[in-house]
Amino acid sequence: MLAQLDELQTTALADLAAAADADAVEAWRIAYLGSKGRLKAMMPGLKDVSKADKPAVGKRLNEVKVALESGFEDRKAEIASSGAASGPQVDVTQPGGDLPDGRRHVLSRTIDEIVDIFGRMGFTTAEGPEVEDEWHNFTALNIPAGHPARDPIDNFFMGEQEGSRTLLRTQTSTVQIRTLEQQKPPVRIIACGRVYRPDTHDATHYSMFHQVEGLCVDRGVTMVDLKTTLFQFARAYFGPEAEVRMRPSFFPFTEPSAEVDMKMKIKGEWQWIEIGGCGMVDPNVLEAVGVDPEEFTGFAFGLGIERVAMRKYGISDIRWLYENDVRFLDQF
Ligand code: DAH
Repeated sequence: MLAQLDELQTTALADLAAAADADAVEAWRIAYLGSKGRLKAMMPGLKDVSKADKPAVGKRLNEVKVALESGFEDRKAEIASSGAASGPQVDVTQPGGDLPDGRRHVLSRTIDEIVDIFGRMGFTTAEGPEVEDEWHNFTALNIPAGHPARDPIDNFFMGEQEGSRTLLRTQTSTVQIRTLEQQKPPVRIIACGRVYRPDTHDATHYSMFHQVEGLCVDRGVTMVDLKTTLFQFARAYFGPEAEVRMRPSFFPFTEPSAEVDMKMKIKGEWQWIEIGGCGMVDPNVLEAVGVDPEEFTGFAFGLGIERVAMRKYGISDIRWLYENDVRFLDQF
């Protein structure tokens, strides 16, 4: 039995030295020191040892146990401090893996598509600032002082500049004015961009969103041109079966004015969805920018970009567009 104990100690310590990580050391502990381990397995042999040899064998048994236990603690500490304790090791000589492809945001791609569709109908793009003055956001658009649309509760007023208050624009209609101030008719532009309103965020509201504004001013422009333009857009964007409906409405900067609905297939069913507003440019707006309403007429429209994108892709919550969760964005 003494020889067996010597043999056990030698192999155990050799195995322990070969255990390379925390998992191997733990497996070693179970194999040798565990309740069903090899040391325990020697215990029953003790009762067959002669009375005279028993003290020596018992002592040796205890020595082996202590040697294994302290060997285990030492090896464990050694591995922990060498950093090999957990996780896969990094092979620094291995070539790097491919990074996943990035892509442009679904809204940026929607804007590209809108610009492309209207571009084919002869519309160029125009821009205006997001921090606006009251003239461009209200006054020139026939929204007089004291009009409820100017209520601070519905606007992000910023400060004052040259005696006029500034605000984050609430509509891209400001670009109608910006464009007509610089360019005489014929004018045919669209303007895509951000607008801001103090709305509480929910599935359909966000305090910042995007609109596409359209403006066409020339001699002899009529409502037929307006409806045709919206109709062509609807077919190009939503598919050849899409339809357009205009419902009488009111906007200060157009007369007459209408809401624009588009009919599209959603989950296999045809539905009318409100997309924005439109109308014939009000003579007061043309006069505000020095265009003679007796000579020129125009149409304008403003559509919600999130609305068209969400309908097309079946996105049911606007907030997903702004959370930048790659799992969501990856789908488009
Ligand atoms: N500016 C309007 C809004 O934000 C939308 C709109 C309506 C734009 C009619 C237009 C228009 O150009 O003609 O609610």
